[in-house]
Amino acid sequence: MYPTLSNIPAEFRIETPFHQNQYLVNGEIRTWNGEMADVISPIFIKNEDGSLSQPVIGSYPQLSAEATMEALDAAAKAYNHGRGEWATMTVENKIKCIEAFVQKMLTYKSHVVKFLMWEIAKTLPDSIKEFDRTVQYINDTIGALKELDRQGSQFKMAEGVIGQMRRAPLGTVLCMGPFNYPLNETFTLLIPALIMGNSIVFKVPRQGALLHQPFLEAFRDCFPKGVMNVIYGQGRVVVPPMMSSGKIDVLTLIGSSKMADSLRKQHPKTNRLRAIFGLDAKNAGIILENADLDLAAKECMLGALSYNGQRCTALKILFVHKSIADVFLQKLSVEVDALKMGLPWEEKVTITPVAEPEKPQYHRDCIAEALANGATIINQNGGKIENSYVTPTILYPVNDKMKIYHQEQFGPIIPVVPFEHTDEVLEYIIHSEYGQQVSVFGTDAHEIAQLVDPLTNQVCRVNINSQCQRGPDVFPFTGRKDSAERTLSVHHALTAFSLNTMIATKATDSNKKLLNEILLNDDSNFISTRFVF
Ligand code: G3H
Repeated sequence: MYPTLSNIPAEFRIETPFHQNQYLVNGEIRTWNGEMADVISPIFIKNEDGSLSQPVIGSYPQLSAEATMEALDAAAKAYNHGRGEWATMTVENKIKCIEAFVQKMLTYKSHVVKFLMWEIAKTLPDSIKEFDRTVQYINDTIGALKELDRQGSQFKMAEGVIGQMRRAPLGTVLCMGPFNYPLNETFTLLIPALIMGNSIVFKVPRQGALLHQPFLEAFRDCFPKGVMNVIYGQGRVVVPPMMSSGKIDVLTLIGSSKMADSLRKQHPKTNRLRAIFGLDAKNAGIILENADLDLAAKECMLGALSYNGQRCTALKILFVHKSIADVFLQKLSVEVDALKMGLPWEEKVTITPVAEPEKPQYHRDCIAEALANGATIINQNGGKIENSYVTPTILYPVNDKMKIYHQEQFGPIIPVVPFEHTDEVLEYIIHSEYGQQVSVFGTDAHEIAQLVDPLTNQVCRVNINSQCQRGPDVFPFTGRKDSAERTLSVHHALTAFSLNTMIATKATDSNKKLLNEILLNDDSNFISTRFVF
């Protein structure tokens, strides 16, 4: 579990720390000579004398508020109140820019994958998947944009009025992604925002920062200057001045609801600010009396423990019918204890060090408090915490006195609550602060149907005999309450980052003639029937 430097395969080794002191503002890659932040890996390594240490794998700039405001001003200037080159560019030309960007991006794969492993301890297969899924997302976004544009390339007539409707950009977007999917989830915000004609200030996540370095060049080379600005720094230093300036039109982030709430309030005109958020969740798994327990145990293990449970969509609490609790727990324990713990690049490893430095202590506290309130650790390997390793731990029976019952643990702990009647579970979900997804395991069609109806008014995706997840990315991804604001999917993200805008005129002969003249002269990008194939 603790490699020496020479034990690490050469292609994944970081021989010298990657100190990257650059950022992107107004089409220029600038060098930062001020304060830097060290990036400390969650992976402990063994030194020659046998001691353990967490290597500093690099550093990135801690920009000042002034440097950040320059980035915001550059974005606003590039947008130029909707008159900028990018905001008015034809869809065809925008697509050419994005395609050129993807070509460059493909050459960064090994860098991104290596730093996903070192910065956030994501396994090699999952890191590769994160990269590939992002490329696929961008390509699908291009397809969805073409479709949206085709819908806008026609006129509609109603009650003697001719109209043409398209989507228009919103302005300057501040974009912040999460540490757990620093590439994928960041790009699922950034790419649709960009492709709809907005200008962007992208604040790179604190963990998962170094992997973004090569993108500075690609953003600079593929888009008009000032359209993409990339900044680094401490959120509490660089974000408030941007928000309070009132120059941000869209705040988009995937992170905590507490942070989203506080940032939104810093904007002087909250009604003018559009917010697009993916936030907290405490997705429940409900195992009914008649469930296929082998299938339920497998899906619950995957749902709770993929990437150590550090997914917003993870199953974070299980409700099991009392009559089958013992058998279910036994099957779940077998699944959980079979998982291999180790380093991200090792074969067949599922459980790796947890990424957030403060989390092992928090998990220790959750477990201790649950034990003090009557729970026991069900699986043989559970409850062991050493440095950044937390063994997957099944706690049972969990009750409302424990914080693990209410809080989002974001780690490999599986709290299990017994129930007798599904109303008890519904009550929990109704009173939860969150409303993202739920998983229901059962074989009785009538019972499932009776549960699905109330659940769909509490959460935004009910998974039947399957774990919770965001993908496939063409499906809507959203939540109620403190779990999300607006919907993200390949298609929905395009509408989230744009506005319905139309031209309208009375259908008189002179107006028809006028419209035809504009079309024939190909004078406008908006009034146009050009078709993007
Ligand atoms: O952190 C939450 C991600 O959206 C999870 O995505 O469920 O498709 O792995 P996924």
